[in-house]
Amino acid sequence: MRFNIAALPGDGVGPEVLVEAVRVLGVVGKKFGHEFKWQYADVGGIAIDNHGSALPTKTLTICQKSDAVMLAAVGGPKWDDPKAKVRPEDGLLALRKGLGLFANLRPVKVFPLLANSTTLKPEVVQGVDLVVVRELTGGLYFGKPKKQWQTSRGRRAVDSMAYSEHEIKRIVRVGFELARSRRKKLASVDKANVLESSRLWRQIVIEMAPKYPDVELWHVLVDSCAMRLIQNPREFDVIVTENTFGDILTDEASMLAGSMGMLPSASLAGVPQAGKRIFGLYEPIHGSAPKYTGLDKVNPIATILSAAMMLRYSLALETEALAIEKAVLKVLEDGYRTYDIMETGKTLMGTKGMGEKVAERI
Ligand code: IPM
Ligand code: MG
Repeated sequence: MRFNIAALPGDGVGPEVLVEAVRVLGVVGKKFGHEFKWQYADVGGIAIDNHGSALPTKTLTICQKSDAVMLAAVGGPKWDDPKAKVRPEDGLLALRKGLGLFANLRPVKVFPLLANSTTLKPEVVQGVDLVVVRELTGGLYFGKPKKQWQTSRGRRAVDSMAYSEHEIKRIVRVGFELARSRRKKLASVDKANVLESSRLWRQIVIEMAPKYPDVELWHVLVDSCAMRLIQNPREFDVIVTENTFGDILTDEASMLAGSMGMLPSASLAGVPQAGKRIFGLYEPIHGSAPKYTGLDKVNPIATILSAAMMLRYSLALETEALAIEKAVLKVLEDGYRTYDIMETGKTLMGTKGMGEKVAERI
C-alpha cells in the first residue's frame, strides 16, 4: 500500500531523530511492500523563523491531507522569551486542536534490559507496563477565559479548566477500550475533592462504567496518583485523565523507564480499534534538547517507536509495528546503547548509528 505521511522535524535534535524513523520505515516499506511518501513541513521555532507563525496554514493543510503525521520536537532558547508574541509550543497546541487530536496515548514500558538505568530501585520498576491516556484538546490549555490583565491593585491572570460532557465521554471511552484490550484495569485520575470539572468527570466515568463490566475501574486523586506511580507503579495498567494532570503525570511516569529517549506517544482523533485506521500524530515524548543539536548524540528510539505506533493506529499495520518493536528489543539485547541508557560493558552509539542498528534488524 501507499501512504502519505506528513513529516514535521521541528527544532533542536528533531530533524536528527526524525531521519532515523524515516530510515527504519524505509526498510519496513521494502520488506512488507509499502510505500511511505513523506511530505516535509515546518512547525515550531523554525516555522516562526521562516513564516512568522508557529503553525503555518500550509503545514496544517499538509497534515490534514496525510494519512498520519510524524513530529519530532519543537522549541529552544532562541524562542523562549516569556514576552514573545508567538512561541514554538503554540504550533504544537494549534496542531492538536486543528487536527482534533483529543486522545494522547503515552505508554510507559520498562525494558527489562534497562531496569538499571532508572533512578528508582530496579525492583520497583521491573515489569512496569502502563499507558496514560491524556485528554489533549481541553482543560486549562484551551479553556476560556484565558488572559492577563491590569487591575487597580496589580496584574491578574486566569486560565480555565473547562470540560464538556462530550469531551469527557470520548476520552474516557478511549481509556475503557484500551483497558479492555490490555490487563482490564482502568484508573480514572481526577481531583474530585476540590474541582468542579473533576466532579463532572468522575460522575461521567461512574455512569459509563456499567458498559464495561469486564474492566476493573478505580478512581484515584491526582496527588495520590503521583505518589503511587513511584511507590508501586506496577499496580497501573491504563490511566485516563484530563490534559494538565496528564501532562504532569506523564513526565513523572517517563522516569520509570529511565530515559525519555525511549518513550513514544500517539495523539489520536478517534477511539483506537484493532484493524481500523484512526488519524493521528506521533512524536517522541522528549523535547528538542537544544544543547545536543547536531552532535549525533541523542536516542532516536522514542521516535522510531512512535513510528511503530503510527503503523499500528493510523495505518492498521500491526505486523509491521511489531517488527519495529522487536528490532528495537534486539538492538538492546545486542548491547547497543545511546548515552542516556549507557552502562559499562555496552556499546555506545550515536543517533545515526542507533537508527542504522534498528533498521538492520527489521
Ligand atoms: C507535552 C509538552 C507540551 C504540553 C508543551 C511542549 C506544550 O509538555 O507534550 O507534554 O504541555 O502538552
Ligand atoms: Mg509535557
